[in-house]
Amino acid sequence: MTFWKSLFAAPGTPAAAGRPREKEILLAEKPYRNGETQQIYFSTSRDIDLYELEELCLAVGWARRPHRKVRKAIENSFLVVSLWLERGAQRRLIGFARATSDHAFNATLWDVVVHPEFQGQGLGKTLMDQIIRELRQQDISNITLFADPQVIGFYQQMGFLTDPEGIKGMFWYPR
Ligand SMILES: CC(C)(COP(=O)(O)OP(=O)(O)OC[C@H]1O[C@@H](n2cnc3c(N)ncnc32)[C@H](O)[C@@H]1OP(=O)(O)O)[C@@H](O)C(=O)NCCC(=O)NCCS
Repeated sequence: MTFWKSLFAAPGTPAAAGRPREKEILLAEKPYRNGETQQIYFSTSRDIDLYELEELCLAVGWARRPHRKVRKAIENSFLVVSLWLERGAQRRLIGFARATSDHAFNATLWDVVVHPEFQGQGLGKTLMDQIIRELRQQDISNITLFADPQVIGFYQQMGFLTDPEGIKGMFWYPR
């Protein structure tokens, strides 16, 4: 983990200035086999193993992305949130999302994902609730995202509106 830690900005460095403080919250605890317990944690740590994140994204069918660009995207995000399943000494990344922001008015959410094995259990909603809570704590009130067509209903349940007051998302791509 030390190697990964060294890839991200430490608190106090310019890239970390003005960002929310890192935190970890125990969301659920339930018994597992052999009397062991398993816990699900929400975290805002940037200490994310890029191979684990890649595995999570591939599990939902997203395209592979170069690690150096993913690392840069994480470094430059305003908020990085994740969900972890902890069982004994093992810790597994099961959910992720990040937000970019102007630190004042606007934030945009990216890469919202829950591992297929854990979907349909309310974790996506928990992830979204926690991101919105974190952003609201920073007094950011305009939260936007780009929804794939099959998840519009999911975001609508979280209170997101499509094309409010006729506003359209517009995109420019290199030709
Ligand atoms: C979208 C995603 C994050 C949802 O996570 P999840 O853990 O399965 O969602 P939850 O179990 O918390 O669902 C919360 C509510 O949203 C609903 N919901 C979940 N996925 C939905 C979908 N695709 N369309 C409409 N409603 C959906 C659930 O039925 C649930 O409703 P309920 O509270 O009335 O029971 C997850 O399916 C995922 O990672 N998908 C692949 C990656 C992806 O497409 N990300 C979005 C990119 S824009």
